[in-house]
Amino acid sequence: MAPNFSLRDIVRPNILALKPYRCARDDYDSGILLDANENSLGPAVNASQAAAAHAQALHRYPDPLHRSVKERIAKLRQLPSTDHIFLGVGSDEVIDLLVRIFCVPAKDKILITPPTYGMYNVTAQINDVAVVKVPLLVDQAIPARMFQLDVPNVLRAVEADPTIKMVFVCSPGNPTGTLIDPQDVQTLLDHPGYRGLVVVDEAYVDFVETHKGGSLAQWVERYPNLVVMQTMSKSFGLAGIRLGLAIAHPDVITLLNNTKAPYNVSTLTATVAMAALDDEGIAVMQGAAAKLRDQRARLIRELPKIRGVGQIIGGNDANFVLCQILTRPDGSRSDGQPDQARALRVYERMAQECGLVVRFRGTEYGCDGCLRITVGSPEENDELLKQLAANLEIL
Ligand SMILES: Cc1ncc(COP(=O)(O)O)c(C=O)c1O
Repeated sequence: MAPNFSLRDIVRPNILALKPYRCARDDYDSGILLDANENSLGPAVNASQAAAAHAQALHRYPDPLHRSVKERIAKLRQLPSTDHIFLGVGSDEVIDLLVRIFCVPAKDKILITPPTYGMYNVTAQINDVAVVKVPLLVDQAIPARMFQLDVPNVLRAVEADPTIKMVFVCSPGNPTGTLIDPQDVQTLLDHPGYRGLVVVDEAYVDFVETHKGGSLAQWVERYPNLVVMQTMSKSFGLAGIRLGLAIAHPDVITLLNNTKAPYNVSTLTATVAMAALDDEGIAVMQGAAAKLRDQRARLIRELPKIRGVGQIIGGNDANFVLCQILTRPDGSRSDGQPDQARALRVYERMAQECGLVVRFRGTEYGCDGCLRITVGSPEENDELLKQLAANLEIL
């Protein structure tokens, strides 16, 4: 009976030491789910109808490259060709492939800017790649730079350490909701002292107000050192199909294609994506994004009127808001400081007693006492505002 076998002895030490990514669905999976930044208005397509139409072809392997899906994405994002696009099993697969392609384990590093999306760090750990952290700016006294890149410190870090192969910039950021100033991204891309890639994660880009600017995807024509990631999980409301993409110079795309599993994206996924990316699907996506932006504005207006809620911090460019919970007011609201314990209590009670799930983000850098709340449908937001007020009355 395998007398000399010990699982622990053969597992890679970095995997044994791994603190796995904790996704929203690990905590709660039913009720009003305002925890995972999904599209609360639903998918941009009748997914079951689209999938059923192709069911007869499911005994065949899928197209390994899904050129027709890429053609629609190239048109939507105004890219010169499908050679600039890679399709992965969610952006999470793209992150993993990038780390595996460009970072030699136990030697190279990535740079991240906390508070940021957790999978960059977890993926690096899984691949035995070290992580350099240069936090975002969190001085609330300078609102225009709140949660923006600390450019001088990022440049110093990459200059000092040539083993940094990638800088991950989340824009709009999660959990900050803040669009990163494109000029800062350009400074990184142009910096002669940095020879690695800049990876801009645009998972939430369709929720940015149009006057604030949009995707940097077209910059890949000018910058061979830029990778832009996008996903069908957010604005298109298709988190369940798992389709993410990288947009980059064709040489980077070739490396991604060479490294992926042969049939990484399924026929069902591609079929649903095709339907979501036709003219009607795109119109539904854009309509939903506009409605969610309106609902976001409503939450930004209404949340601070609730006793015990502090500021809505960050740029509010995504489909969620970052909302401070304050110490119990003792008469004057302005005395309230962000209150970690109270925020956690409110989060837990709302999830357990009221079936309304948001996400506690108070332990993230610069997010003391914060709940991250996905913008819901109008009815879900009614309920959120009601429950948050009621719970803050008693906690
Ligand atoms: C910033 C960011 N990037 C990527 C992802 C993951 O996207 P996907 O569903 O395409 O793997 C998320 C999911 O929450 C996210 O917040």
